[in-house]
Amino acid sequence: MSDPLKLSVIYYSSTGTIAEIANAMVAEAESAGAEVRLRKAPELAPDAAIDANPAWRANLEATRSVPEVVAEDVVWADAVLFGTPTRYGNVAAQLKQFIDTLGGEWQQGLLADKVYSGFVSSATKHGGQESTLLALYNTIHHFGGFVVSPGYTDSSKFADGNPYGTSHVDGQGQFKVDDETRTAAAVQARRVVRVAQALKVGFAAA
Ligand SMILES: Cc1cc2nc3c(=O)[nH]c(=O)nc-3n(C[C@H](O)[C@H](O)[C@H](O)COP(=O)(O)O)c2cc1C
Repeated sequence: MSDPLKLSVIYYSSTGTIAEIANAMVAEAESAGAEVRLRKAPELAPDAAIDANPAWRANLEATRSVPEVVAEDVVWADAVLFGTPTRYGNVAAQLKQFIDTLGGEWQQGLLADKVYSGFVSSATKHGGQESTLLALYNTIHHFGGFVVSPGYTDSSKFADGNPYGTSHVDGQGQFKVDDETRTAAAVQARRVVRVAQALKVGFAAA
């Protein structure tokens, strides 16, 4: 038996959608045998903006016990799942700010040869989910990482329709994370663990 696969689930969430999907990813990866770290990107928004949206303040309080991510959480991991709400079709600044602190680790090659994958949520259909994941995946190429997207590798993917990564439409809080999104998260988390484990064994043998 090889060591357990080490997975970091690193996310940013304002109003809780991505936080909920992150928890579903953790549960599935743990049930697939991975050792998992759940980490959040630090909040950067001013209190005035947060307090203007009760769901934002509530999520900040509800996730207070989740540790804030540090570079070592990426270096430690064999695989990383990044989660972000879309921001105008792009990665949220809070997650991007963390990624942009990783220059030193990137330069030392400490981010390479790992599996990476992403998940996203938006308010509307066609609201930028795919562009957000593709923007996130640009960075992975620079890391020298391996993007492991779900593709259409499971029949459920033909229902949720997003081969780039788990995605949820929240209708600005109207549509809670549902079975379709949970199934997508489970499929993606299992695939990431399985592929990363195979890669880890392969590298160890090479
Ligand atoms: C500044 C800002 C920009 C956003 N841009 C988009 C967008 O381009 N398309 C969209 O569908 N939703 C957009 N949203 C909505 C969020 O991405 C969406 O509600 C998301 O599911 C929230 O995830 P969370 O609950 O984890 O914070 C935006 C929200 C904010 C605050």
